[in-house]
Amino acid sequence: MPPLTAVTIAPARRLRGRLRVPGDKSISHRYAMLAALADGLSMMTHFAPGADCRSTLACLRRLGVEIKEGSAGTVSVMGRGLLHLSSPAAALDAGNSGTTLRLLSGILAGQPFATTIGGDASLSRRPMRRIIEPLERMGARVESSDGRPPLTIHGTALHAIAHRPEVPSAQIKSAVLLAGLLADGTTSVVEPAATRDHTERALVAFSGTVHLDRLTVSVPGRQRLTGRPLSIPGDFSSAAFWLVAAAALPGSRVEIEEVGLNPTRTALLDVLRRFGARVTVEPIADRDEAAGEPRGLVAVECDRMGSIEIAPAEVPGLIDELPAIAALAAHGGEVTVRGAAELRVKESDRIAALVAGFRALGLEADERPDGFTIRGGRPMRGGVADARGDHRMAMAFAIAALAAEQPSTIDGADAVAISYPNFFETLDRLTS
Ligand code: S3P
Repeated sequence: MPPLTAVTIAPARRLRGRLRVPGDKSISHRYAMLAALADGLSMMTHFAPGADCRSTLACLRRLGVEIKEGSAGTVSVMGRGLLHLSSPAAALDAGNSGTTLRLLSGILAGQPFATTIGGDASLSRRPMRRIIEPLERMGARVESSDGRPPLTIHGTALHAIAHRPEVPSAQIKSAVLLAGLLADGTTSVVEPAATRDHTERALVAFSGTVHLDRLTVSVPGRQRLTGRPLSIPGDFSSAAFWLVAAAALPGSRVEIEEVGLNPTRTALLDVLRRFGARVTVEPIADRDEAAGEPRGLVAVECDRMGSIEIAPAEVPGLIDELPAIAALAAHGGEVTVRGAAELRVKESDRIAALVAGFRALGLEADERPDGFTIRGGRPMRGGVADARGDHRMAMAFAIAALAAEQPSTIDGADAVAISYPNFFETLDRLTS
């Protein structure tokens, strides 16, 4: 195995600066996939630069989609229409990206050919029965390795279903809605709790029809989508690390421009207010290419610090921000999270990885099946934390390490390339 890249983080007194974060990963995946299924050209700006969305573009190219990349995150996709992807010559590689694998599976289930799609060691451990079961009920046949990737999806003419996922998951919802787009009839998903709604908004942006009724989303099948220009807001989940650091280090002020403010993603702002930070939000007027995804400026300043308890009902709205929230403990508070067993099946077992990493940095931490408590409140020594190949672990440990007495090391820090390739350069700029 190649050596893991280690990065040393020096303690910092405060963070100050104004910046833009990389384009939203969830939105970039969806725009690229829907652009491929649309008629005509879609030109996207501020497309997510990380490896996950590169995996989506690579898979789409292997399915015969013409994609051109310009400078500064400009990506043009020439649509092929709903059912005109080409059978790929070899298996598709989704890399580390669960969103690529799950959402594309929905699209592949409706194509008139069979495709194998897999990914790296982490993705190969992640549960896929949650999408295999509904896609098989729609008529596709899916082979797997005991419910895990690689999947071989035997596409067919699909029929609509009504699906009630057991866990709140935007990836399950989106896989079924994308399959529903290719199916005969109207497919609906009834969620156990609201999850990010980027697929619904993106379908409307591409001139599609979606019906919403509280926790039920329905999509009529065989609609024609139309390509268009789209600008992608900054990724709130990447901004989260700077917002947390600014909330925790006295004298800090961080301003993030043009960051996505979709309300299904921004629950962290209330958590930071509860923690005692000063948070201001200035939405910008919806421009045409914003395509229903609100955005604006978010500023956070440290004021006072408290302890934080995250209740199970809050978890779906904070699912990708829980590692950043855990880092608040390093700065003095106590952070307790309950009802978050889903964290165990992300890019790493995030409950185990967080508890091990924070203990290695010198904090006390308790692990439970569905969550954790991390206790700050006294000076943290610093140490060596292992990101376990998970981008959000690397960033959470880096933000925590700013509060240590001595420099700390993050092993496997190169994982940030999944969603935030220049994270460490930005950290240097904001702390100097
Ligand atoms: C995502 C949904 C979430 C999230 C992931 C991205 C998406 O996963 O954790 O990082 O883009 O739909 P689940 O739907 O599995 O909770």
